[in-house]
Amino acid sequence: MIDSSVLIIREFLAADGDFVSGSQLAELIGVSRVSVWSYMEKLKAQGFDFDAVRSKGYRLTKMPSELNESLIQARLTHAAASFTATVLDEVDSTNSEAERRIANGEPTPFVVLSRLQTIGRGRLGRVWHSPQNGNLYASFAFRPQISPTQMSLFTLWMGINICECINSVCRVSCKVKWPNDLHIEGKKIAGILTEARMEADQVRDVVLGIGLNVNSDGKDWPEELKSIATSLRQSSGETFDINRLVSAITGRIAIAYKQLEDGSHKKALKDKWPRYDSLVGKQVSLLQGESRISGTANGIDANGSLVIEREDGTRYLARAGEVTIEKKV
Ligand code: BTN
Repeated sequence: MIDSSVLIIREFLAADGDFVSGSQLAELIGVSRVSVWSYMEKLKAQGFDFDAVRSKGYRLTKMPSELNESLIQARLTHAAASFTATVLDEVDSTNSEAERRIANGEPTPFVVLSRLQTIGRGRLGRVWHSPQNGNLYASFAFRPQISPTQMSLFTLWMGINICECINSVCRVSCKVKWPNDLHIEGKKIAGILTEARMEADQVRDVVLGIGLNVNSDGKDWPEELKSIATSLRQSSGETFDINRLVSAITGRIAIAYKQLEDGSHKKALKDKWPRYDSLVGKQVSLLQGESRISGTANGIDANGSLVIEREDGTRYLARAGEVTIEKKV
């Protein structure tokens, strides 16, 4: 059942700045007009504000700038209607929290978000710096009906979709740095950590974690991050509505996930990749354990492997690893 706060917010969003009468709201959520007042007070405590005029009702005048569960849920499109969104004040890691919720039998799909993470995790055992600074820490959980081989394109496909969504909502130009980063002008704005649990020849569940630098000014970042990372705000000079962005990304992920299940993602990824590939034509080196492979990046193959053309004319297909762009000397 849809939460009453979500219904109320939806009504105000649909009214688009106009008044909504108390009796309309009362009917909508099935309570008396007097009880509507207490719902409005609860919303005010969350950072919403309203004009109240006796003969007209209420008009929405302010929305919370911090993550807000009801607002995210209210804006979810039809495609993402089956998603439940949960916002936490603090958690160790949203990926770990999503895994715990899956283990406890919580229905999927869902997204869990947190205002800060105390043990945010990155790829290759790294730490994801996650203070409360207007950035996004989110994990999307699924119990997919797909085989492990279908998982090979999962992160790239989701990465491209998240990238496209950010570009259209925020009017920026981010690209995907194989295999799991989003970059703007060579600096990292987001990282993706996909964690799946397999069972015989079936994927049991999968958690897609996204750390996206949205409104941070970068001042609180560790020195080593300042030269290699950026935020949407730093790169564009604008402050973004994080709730709108989360709803849009969730909607986009819901559609991308359906395409992954019906198999239409393969062709779409092949078609879209050249537009969003931040490495193509660049001199790169790939670190794989102790060995280093150098050459020119030349897109991806059908399995999502990075194609590296070596100087001696041979090709190397990288399934995983850490890629760095070599500086010209
Ligand atoms: C990387 O670039 O190494 C991936 C970083 C992924 C970070 C996100 S933040 C939300 C989710 N929870 C985590 O602990 N990690 C992911």
